[in-house]
Amino acid sequence: MEEELRKLEQEAVAALNEIEREDGLESFRVRYLGRKGSLSSIMRGLAQVSREDRPRLGRLANQVKRKVEEQFNLKKKALATAREIPAARLDLTLPGRRQPLGTLHPVTQVMEEMCSIFEGMGFAVAEGPDVELDHYNFEALNIPEHHPARDMHDTFYVSESILLRTHTSPMQARIMEKHDPPLRYIAPGKVYRCDSDITHTPMFHQVEGFLVDRRVSFADLKGVLSSFLRSMFRKDLALRFRPSFFPFTEPSAEVDIGCVICGGAGCRVCKRTGWIEILGAGLIDPEVLTRVGYDPDTYSGFAFGLGVERIAMLKYGIDDIRLFYENDLRFLARF
Ligand code: PHE
Repeated sequence: MEEELRKLEQEAVAALNEIEREDGLESFRVRYLGRKGSLSSIMRGLAQVSREDRPRLGRLANQVKRKVEEQFNLKKKALATAREIPAARLDLTLPGRRQPLGTLHPVTQVMEEMCSIFEGMGFAVAEGPDVELDHYNFEALNIPEHHPARDMHDTFYVSESILLRTHTSPMQARIMEKHDPPLRYIAPGKVYRCDSDITHTPMFHQVEGFLVDRRVSFADLKGVLSSFLRSMFRKDLALRFRPSFFPFTEPSAEVDIGCVICGGAGCRVCKRTGWIEILGAGLIDPEVLTRVGYDPDTYSGFAFGLGVERIAMLKYGIDDIRLFYENDLRFLARF
């Protein structure tokens, strides 16, 4: 009898494995587990077994029964899930799986737009090193050691003669040194100053622009800048040239535009003045031209340095420059 039971168990498990569809389950159940099934008929034989053997064989019979039932239930469940999954896979109403797509940082987007506007005006694009020599950042731009103008720059020094560039103007000297006039270039990139509040971050972006040719005047500078700003903001903006000083331009100006955030009424971004400074500019100082080997009696030029974050803030109505650098996706994803 013991052998019979073991054989039955093996047979049942093998039979279960063969079943591939739910409608095969019922005939299995009737055949092995039903009241007239194989197990029941073996168990009925217990009555004929000797008294000593009965408890042991009884236990074994129960074990086999439980085992077969257990396997049967597992199979039943597996077939039911297998039936449900293909149906779920075919739910055409489910939304598609989105590939998370990154976007360009708003500052990069604005910088690229600025470059393409200037390229449209015939400017070539050049990039230079963030880690710069004191020579190009200051000396070549007519800012000798101990010159008070250095104080405006809050410089991060790497060593005595190497620093993180405080503006993109060193590119003026680097390019003029290598090329002869006429030339017009823009140089976009990162700049660094030890400064931080709602309108300043220690790293920010500038787009430098300059043009050298015969008889270049301040009117050319004004024309290029207003045409740039009109393209950038897609409307005519109030522009204000304020006399200023840079050692590498003469005359020099700082240019403000009417605050786009408050419409000129005064807010915390324009510090209640209604105006926002967005660039420094001027005619290139003859001293700078001489140092790169140009004859200042033949050539003149203009230069300007635009703050990219400022322009991005005005274009998108952002009132705190630090938002650009907090990497909050809810902010970045808006662009
Ligand atoms: N480099 C100046 C600054 O960062 C801006 C500037 C550029 C001024 C070119 C004049 C000409 O403050």
